[in-house]
Amino acid sequence: MGRDVIIACDFSSKEAVLNFLDKFTGRKPFVKIGMELFYAEGPSIVKEIKERGHKIFLDLKLHDIPNTVKKSMAVLSNLDVDICNLHAAGTKRMMTAALEGLTRPDGTRPLLIAVTQLTSTDQESMENDLLIKEPIDKVVMHYAKNAADAGLDGVVCSPLEAQKVHETCGKDFLTITPGVRFADGDIGDQKRVMTPAEANRIGSDYIVVGRPITAAEDPVAAYERCIAEFVG
Ligand code: C5P
Repeated sequence: MGRDVIIACDFSSKEAVLNFLDKFTGRKPFVKIGMELFYAEGPSIVKEIKERGHKIFLDLKLHDIPNTVKKSMAVLSNLDVDICNLHAAGTKRMMTAALEGLTRPDGTRPLLIAVTQLTSTDQESMENDLLIKEPIDKVVMHYAKNAADAGLDGVVCSPLEAQKVHETCGKDFLTITPGVRFADGDIGDQKRVMTPAEANRIGSDYIVVGRPITAAEDPVAAYERCIAEFVG
């Protein structure tokens, strides 16, 4: 899989997401399905969107004991999604178990991506709530390295971290970056943002874009603009 734009389909119902996807009559965008839609509609929404021809990043961020994660990943793998994810905080052993669960009898599997520290966690909450005293960028890189050591395919990270992740974990280790905004668009609640063109320059492999596309007056045009700026 090459560089691509993944649309964050943060909708709470099947009706809303299918209405949105119906607008795309030509190219079939890569979509991200998160907890909100998955918990509302269940696995059938994944199957339905897959049958429509979309690639799917199922963003459920698993974090549990290795055996539970392994068995759950086997279930997600059967949904034939393209990318799954988990929390690197679950340890290397959990990540290795996840890979085992994800691998199908024929040896194929979805890509597996780790979340390092959530961007909602800052230095202060990490130190006070989690008792992790190291600088947050060091913690993020350490978790990324753990994910690479465990055999995972990449991490979700800020576009600002993508270059460092590639330096630390290798250029083939994937970086999936949210926090993307058009130069002339609303930032909303994102704090550190980059344009699709900047994300391309610093080496993001995939950008995850939600509201700049889903809330646009013309979502198809906004998506095509993202593709043009990011993929070229
Ligand atoms: O609408 P917007 O473009 O801000 O959507 C970004 C998507 O990426 C959302 O689904 C959000 O949950 C997700 N995300 C993020 N920041 C992270 C991890 C995931 O914005 N650190």
